Amino acid sequence: MDTDRTVRVFTDFYRERGHHLITGSTLLPPPGDPVLFTTSGMHPLTPHLEGLPHPRGRRLVNVQRCLRTTDLDEVGDSTHLTVFEMLGSWSLGDYGHSRSLRWGYELLRDGFGIPHDRLHVTVFGGDEQVGPDLESLRTWEELEVPVERTGDNNWWSNGPVGPCGPDSEIFVWTGDVPPRGTPTTDPRWVEIWNHVGMRYRRLEDGSLRPLERPGIDTGMGLERLVTVLQGRDSVYGTDVFEPWLRLLPPLWPLDGPSLRLVSDHLRAAVVMIGDGVRPSSTGRGYVLRRVVRRLLTTLRRDDPSRTLRDLPEELLRHTLDHFRTGCGPGLVRDVLLEEERRFDRLLERGRRLLSGPRYRGPLSEEDYDYLHDTHGLPRDLVLELRPEG
Ligand code: ALA
Repeated sequence: MDTDRTVRVFTDFYRERGHHLITGSTLLPPPGDPVLFTTSGMHPLTPHLEGLPHPRGRRLVNVQRCLRTTDLDEVGDSTHLTVFEMLGSWSLGDYGHSRSLRWGYELLRDGFGIPHDRLHVTVFGGDEQVGPDLESLRTWEELEVPVERTGDNNWWSNGPVGPCGPDSEIFVWTGDVPPRGTPTTDPRWVEIWNHVGMRYRRLEDGSLRPLERPGIDTGMGLERLVTVLQGRDSVYGTDVFEPWLRLLPPLWPLDGPSLRLVSDHLRAAVVMIGDGVRPSSTGRGYVLRRVVRRLLTTLRRDDPSRTLRDLPEELLRHTLDHFRTGCGPGLVRDVLLEEERRFDRLLERGRRLLSGPRYRGPLSEEDYDYLHDTHGLPRDLVLELRPEG
């Protein structure tokens, strides 16, 4: 099942059950939102999960692109991406947790064909503020799906204040031997879907106030689901990355981890630029700048002559079309190339500076601060240019 069809099966399932398909927003949260990027499907819906009526009703479904800077260091493993898409369904004060879990189970088993015995779930086992999530526990027991109870791992919130509640996570067994262990004891259980019972609002003082109309927020990582459905052991083996893994290796022979990082970061940069982000020294623009610099550093480690000027247009087009950003490949290319030139100038300046007599011996903290504050050379770049530290 390819990615487009996976999305259709998901959205059709919920539409047939009375959900309105809403258009996902861009990676940029609305003005005034303190968070830099949209980090989950519920993010743009926060006011509605807290009670504001939604113009499209109380049952919603969508696909939302997300960016999590917290995942940046995990990129290159088999499941984490900088930009990913989340399939989401919502009940805004309509049906409850049990209904959501039953539909989730039905869709995974009948819609996506995942066998019952490859599923495991976790539920909230309670803490000092809230008791165990008995509704979810009972539902899974009735469905005869094995359950593990955990604490913090099964509590979801999008920040220190705002809507939150106990969640139930659904895992699929990805091992090539029969399932064993539990999600917290065997990493071959891969989490694909989270069903959150949005029952509370966390206030500034840390206390919880029950929501007048509790809702449901579910989110399933599309690329992860597709990895499972296509029987791949990594997201890079799926159709999402097909053109990247076809076109980049002949152009730039990179080792496996570097190829993953370069593909992921380039794809993320293209989506960010497509959504209107421009490289800068603060905020979103700085995240984009870091992503581009990191990929350039990796790309050129073995061959400094490699350049984004050689990036095939098909990759830009494929990504922009998939995310429907409304931005053309020409503009994205110009932004990437300008950032590459800027980085080259910085490297040139850095090399000149670091070859001076002041930097012969080991560098002190003061040196790093000075290079950063006065010359815009971050520590990781200094270390690239001068690996002896
Ligand atoms: N908002 C929940 C998550 O991102 C569904 O996991």
